[in-house]
This record gives sequence, C-alpha cells and structure tokens, in this order.
Amino acid sequence: MKIENYCTLEFPSRSANEGFARAAAACFAAQLDPTLEEINDVKTAVSEAVTNAIVHAYPDRIGKIVMKLRQKEGQVLEIVVRDWGVGISDVAQARTPLFTTGSEERAGMGFTIMESFMDELKVRSTPGKGTTVTMRRQIARRISG
Ligand SMILES: Nc1ncnc2c1ncn2[C@@H]1O[C@H](COP(=O)(O)OP(=O)(O)OP(=O)(O)O)[C@@H](O)[C@H]1O
Ligand SMILES: [Mg+2]
Repeated sequence: MKIENYCTLEFPSRSANEGFARAAAACFAAQLDPTLEEINDVKTAVSEAVTNAIVHAYPDRIGKIVMKLRQKEGQVLEIVVRDWGVGISDVAQARTPLFTTGSEERAGMGFTIMESFMDELKVRSTPGKGTTVTMRRQIARRISG
C-alpha cells in the first residue's frame, strides 16, 4: 500500500503526552474527512496504545515513544506506536481480554479495545527491547456536498 502522507512524532513517556498524542492523531486523521465516530474510534485506540507505552513499557523511568501516522492508498490510516521499554514476553496472552500485569485500576482491556475500534492490530515485542503496535483503520470515502 502506497504511503500518501505521513507524520512522525517523538515524545517522552510523560502522562501528559497521552492527550497530546491522541489530539495529534485526530488532527492527522482529519485529512481523510472522517465522521465523528471514526475520529473517536481512532482517538480511543491511540489513547490505549500510548497509555500502555507510558505505563507498562517504562514502569520506573521516562523513556522514548515514537508515533508514526500514515495515510495509505485507499483511505487507510495506519498508526504505529513504538517504545524501547521492557517488552512483552507472551503477546498472545497480553492480548487476551482482562489480562493485565498492572495494578487494580487497570482492566486488561487496552488491546481488546484497540482491536475492536480498528480494522487491524499487530503487536510485535521483544522482552528487554521494546514493543511496536501497528493499527489500521479504513476511513470511509464520503461524498462531500
Ligand atoms: N508497550 C508495552 N510494554 C510492555 N508491556 C505492555 C505494553 N503494552 C501492553 N503491555 C502488557 O500487556 C498487558 C495488557 O495490556 P492492555 O492494554 O490490554 O491492558 P492493561 O494496560 O493492563 O489495562 P487497561 O489498558 O485496561 O488499563 C499489560 O498489562 C502489560 O503487561
Ligand atoms: Mg492498557
């Protein structure tokens, strides 16, 4: 799939950057003329992915997060959230609904939410090296009038 437009953002794993990343993704996605529902779905998925990088990847330090936003052929929005943190030893288990290694306030629903709000979710991770989450969502073409 040809990349028609892109943007790369790098930011530290500070909790304030969750809102920033969500808003930035929404601004980028706006170029595809999404509905309010589509934009809210994308924002929710980005929020879950970036929160995971902030909370789980770097539990006791501030680390680097990179978010890539891509507009691909056929109105496909691709979002990559990458960290260089602790990584995930068993990705299939981590993706299971309700599975969490976090404290009581975590529901273990982040990956499940990303999966349901986006068309595709890929998670690649190496313990000690980091995690890359790739999500895709097709934005319906609308007839503007
Ligand atoms: N970027 C990451 N780095 C390291 N571990 C991660 C990362 N993302 C997810 N995980 C692991 O996968 C588990 C499941 O993630 P998921 O987002 O589904 O649930 P959660 O973050 O625990 O809870 P919730 O998202 O509902 O608050 C986490 O508890 C954590 O162990
Ligand atoms: Mg989560």
